[in-house]
Amino acid sequence: MTMTRLVAVSLAFLTLTTPMALAQMEDGLAGDPERGKVVYRSVGYCGNCHGWPGDGLTGTMLQAPAAPSLRESTLDTETLFEIIKCGLPGTPMPYHGRTAYRDDSCYGMALADFAPENKPRRGKTFSDADITNLVAYLETSVMGLGEPTFEECADFFDNPDARPCSRFK
Ligand code: HEC
Repeated sequence: MTMTRLVAVSLAFLTLTTPMALAQMEDGLAGDPERGKVVYRSVGYCGNCHGWPGDGLTGTMLQAPAAPSLRESTLDTETLFEIIKCGLPGTPMPYHGRTAYRDDSCYGMALADFAPENKPRRGKTFSDADITNLVAYLETSVMGLGEPTFEECADFFDNPDARPCSRFK
């Protein structure tokens, strides 16, 4: 075991103190949903296409392609990670991994390997750790939820007076 691996393992262990984190460990991934929310909102701008609540409707940008509801998604942890990291080539879902198509982590492919019509689109990119945090956020706070509520909106924007929340009052 190398030194960096040891550090990574002990850091991972430190974050595994809540029951939620323990549940994720069983899936082999331990992310921080609070940080994941920030990544969804202010790093990846997922809401431009998926809506801030991930319902595919609310607060989407007019010029953005329609995107499916993440609240209704039933994908598993690994698939979520892969889709966020590598995108869905040939569709408007962009890739967000900083190393996507630069190393072999996305299907062993490089951008040059794709036909022009199937080339993956590039979104805002971030680290694998933040992809893991984002997946934890989707799994704990988005997937499986029904209609968005005022409480959820206030929590999402860290501000009950955020403009998108006024329609719930
Ligand atoms: C430019 C618009 C756009 C942005 C930005 C975007 N997506 Fe998507 N996303 C899509 C579209 C469109 C699809 C459906 C692609 C298809 O299958 O045709 C999709 C599909 C997905 C899926 C698969 C859902 C399922 O159940 O099949 C996931 C998960 C997802 N996006 C997560 C994210 C996350 C997380 C972010 C932010 C990091 C994000 N997306 C940013 C447009 C976008």
